[in-house]
Amino acid sequence: MKILSIETSCDETALGIVEASGDLDNPKVKVLGEALYSQVAIHAEYGGVYPNLAKREHAKNLAPLLKKSLVQAELFVESEIYYSEEIWQEIEQICHREEGLYESFREIFENVENPKVDFISVTYGPGLEPALWVGISFAKALSKLWNTPVLPINHMEGHITSVLGESTNIKPIEFPALALLISGGHTEIIDIEKWGEYKIIGQTRDDAVGEAFDKVARMLALPYPGGPEISKLAKEARKNTSLERSVILPRPMINSQDFDFSFSGIKTAVLYYIRDIGTLSPEKKISLAREFEDAVTEVLLTKTKKALVQKDYKYLIIAGGVVANEFIQQSFFDMVSHDFPGLNMTIPKNGMTGDNALMIAFAGFIKYLLDPKILKSKTEIIAKGNLRLDDK
Ligand code: KG4
Ligand code: ZN
Repeated sequence: MKILSIETSCDETALGIVEASGDLDNPKVKVLGEALYSQVAIHAEYGGVYPNLAKREHAKNLAPLLKKSLVQAELFVESEIYYSEEIWQEIEQICHREEGLYESFREIFENVENPKVDFISVTYGPGLEPALWVGISFAKALSKLWNTPVLPINHMEGHITSVLGESTNIKPIEFPALALLISGGHTEIIDIEKWGEYKIIGQTRDDAVGEAFDKVARMLALPYPGGPEISKLAKEARKNTSLERSVILPRPMINSQDFDFSFSGIKTAVLYYIRDIGTLSPEKKISLAREFEDAVTEVLLTKTKKALVQKDYKYLIIAGGVVANEFIQQSFFDMVSHDFPGLNMTIPKNGMTGDNALMIAFAGFIKYLLDPKILKSKTEIIAKGNLRLDDK
């Protein structure tokens, strides 16, 4: 079946077209088309993401990006087709809060044939509500024009299923599985009994890991997003074997009995260190970056290990923007091969660690497989900024 997917929960506008087959034991997905526009450069000036700016950018870019992904999937067919003025009026109504969305949509799709996808997957949370609403309005508009069902998808379930992008070359996911989700907005450990059954067994009590990377990067006058920048400095520090360790940062909650995290203490320690030292020499700067990456990684590893020993997990899934970090990846692969040799570990393939629309299509496919009748349900889709994976 063909799935069209839309992701606008933060600062990435993403569209995807996927061909999905197989079943829950072995879901298979093939990417037919995808388009992604990152607003990172626009938000970088402000050092973070501005919701209303993100919303405007999504509204401007959704229709052109959909065209691009449909062209790639060879499903963009212009013809003499005519959609009634009544339908366009309803679509205008659906889009009326999203400046420019209706106009660009109509201009591009007025004479385009129905691509006949089986359903549309759209992120409805968690994320920035103004940004989520644009994607939802767009999904509803497409649904009206092409008479296609829409499935609302949890962005975090998207991150979990992002590893299906490798499904042609890895063993299918087996359960129970454990997922470590590390992104700019979330740090969670999820127990997955089977597809669709998610229990959050650990989470951050303050900042998310990616957020800590971004905030520390800002203290070091590095550009946003800070994760890749800190990681570059830390790598430099690791290569320099004569470099002295200039600071010891805390590993908050590392010995606590639960699976929760806290990262704001590391960030505050960095702040005090920089304040006390006055000027950071280039050596001290890279040494600090390394110590920060070490501290964060150690906490993530320790808590994940603690979760892994309490159940006979078959799979460890690590997903979310921060897993792009090579040091974290390598540390986890080393830990698993050393301490849990029978455990399969998987991370999303390159380009699928950060936010994207393909993972929203994959999660949609799983949701459909769990209950095919869901395509007939007519419940209203509402953006939920604080949606949790265990919300029903
Ligand atoms: O999953 P994602 O793209 O968006 C959210 O849903 O949050 O994650 C973005 C986060 C940012 O905080 C960014 O700094 C972090 O992922 N990140 C990294 C690296 N690449 C991206 N953090 C550490 N090391 C990296 N190489
Ligand atoms: Zn994300």
